[in-house]
Amino acid sequence: MIFKGNFLYTPALGELTVREGEYLVVEGEKCAGFYRALPQEYAGQPVTDFGRALVLPAFCDLHLHAPQMVNRGVGYDQELLPWLETYTFPVEARYGDTDFAEAAWKRFLNRMWANGTLRFSAFATIHKEAAWRLMELTEQAGLSALIGKVNMDRNAPDSLREDTDASLADTEELICRSRAELKHVEYILTPRFVPSTTARLMDGLGRLGERYGLPVQSHLSENRSEIAWVGQLHPECASYTEVYRDYGLLRRGCTIMAHAVHLTGREEAILREEGVTLAHCAQSNTNLSSGVMPLRRSLSEGLRCCVASDVAGGHAAAMNRHVAATVGLSKLRALDHMEERPLSLPEALYLATKGPGEFFGKVGSFEPGYDFDALVVDVDELDGRLPRTPFEKLEQFLYDGDDRDILARYSRGSLVEKPFTE
Ligand code: GUN
Ligand code: FE
Repeated sequence: MIFKGNFLYTPALGELTVREGEYLVVEGEKCAGFYRALPQEYAGQPVTDFGRALVLPAFCDLHLHAPQMVNRGVGYDQELLPWLETYTFPVEARYGDTDFAEAAWKRFLNRMWANGTLRFSAFATIHKEAAWRLMELTEQAGLSALIGKVNMDRNAPDSLREDTDASLADTEELICRSRAELKHVEYILTPRFVPSTTARLMDGLGRLGERYGLPVQSHLSENRSEIAWVGQLHPECASYTEVYRDYGLLRRGCTIMAHAVHLTGREEAILREEGVTLAHCAQSNTNLSSGVMPLRRSLSEGLRCCVASDVAGGHAAAMNRHVAATVGLSKLRALDHMEERPLSLPEALYLATKGPGEFFGKVGSFEPGYDFDALVVDVDELDGRLPRTPFEKLEQFLYDGDDRDILARYSRGSLVEKPFTE
C-alpha cells in the first residue's frame, strides 16, 4: 500500500519528524519507507492521498480501567481512598452481571476506537467471565491490548473480595485461555495495588509471572494516605516499591506502575534497575489531588515513563488531552522546580506513542519496520483561508481535537472501522 500525506512522528524523546506531502510505502502490516517522489518501481500502483490532513501514530495508553469508563468525571470531591470506596468499587461490582459487562465493554471499545487509542493496557474487574469477554471483544474490535482481571483479596467490599486460591486459579485459567484463543490480546497480571492484595496473593501472582513470562500492571505511590497505609501493612519491606519487588512483581522490562508521584531516591534506583515503566497520569493526579509527579526528573534520571489516562481517575480517555495535560502540569511544576524544564509537546507525544508502543513490539512510529498504526487527522483551515503548518495543526489537534477530527484509523496496515453498533 502507498499513502501520501503529512506524516508527523517522534523517533526519540524530544525529536519530531515532519514529512510534508511525502509517500509512505507500507508492506503488509509494516512501514517500509518514505519517498519525496515515488520511485519507478511503484509507478501505476494505487496511492491513498490524505491531502492536507495529518497522519500521526495511533495512541497507546498503558494505564486505564475499562470498567470505570462509565464513571468518567464522577466523584472528584474525594481523594483516592474514599473515592475508591464511594464511587469505584460499587461500579466495578456491577460487572458480576455479564449483560451489564457486555454493554459496558462495547461502549468502552467504541470510545477507545473513536479517540484513536488502538493499543492499550487495561484493568478489567475481579470477574473472570467479564474479563474474558473484554479480551474477546477487544480482539473482535481489531484493537490490540494487554488485559488482566483485577486481583483483590483484602480491604475490599464483600462483593469484590476474592478468595486467594480462587483468584490465582481464575487468573491462570485466563492466561491459558487467552494464549490458546487470542492473537492480539494478551494477559497481564493485575494486582490492584498493595493494600488490596495479601502477601500470599502477591507471591502467587509473582510465581505465575515467572512460569508464564507475563507482564505486570499495578499502582505505586499515588497518594500520601495510600503510602502510609502500605507502610503499616508491610513493616517487613523497606518501601512501597520494595513490597512489589520482594513479592516478585517487578518483572524486569515488562512492568507498568501507574502514578509514582511520591517516590524516594532509593525507590527510583530500584525502578530504573528493573526497567519498570512509570505511567504518568496528569489528569488523574489533578482530579484526585494526588500530587505532581516529577516527570522531567524521572526522565533525566533514566527511568522509563509514559503518559496514560487512568480512566476514571482521569475523566477522559482521549490521549491527545493527556498529552496536553502532561505539558501543562509540567509547566506548573517547573515554576517551583527551576531545574526541571517543562515537557515540550513533541516530548509528551512520544510518551503517548513510541515510548509506550515498545510494550507491543515496533509500534508508535513510522520508521521502517514499525507497524503501520495511524490516525488521519483533519484540522480546519477555514476552507484554505487560514492555512496552518503541519506542526500548528498537530498542536491544535493535541489541545482541542476530538473524534470528529479523526478521519480514519489504521492498525497493522488495515483500516479499523467502528467496532460495535450502540
Ligand atoms: N489504586 C488502586 N485502585 C485504583 C484505581 O482504580 N484507580 C486509581 N487511580 N488508583 C487506584
Ligand atoms: Fe489506575
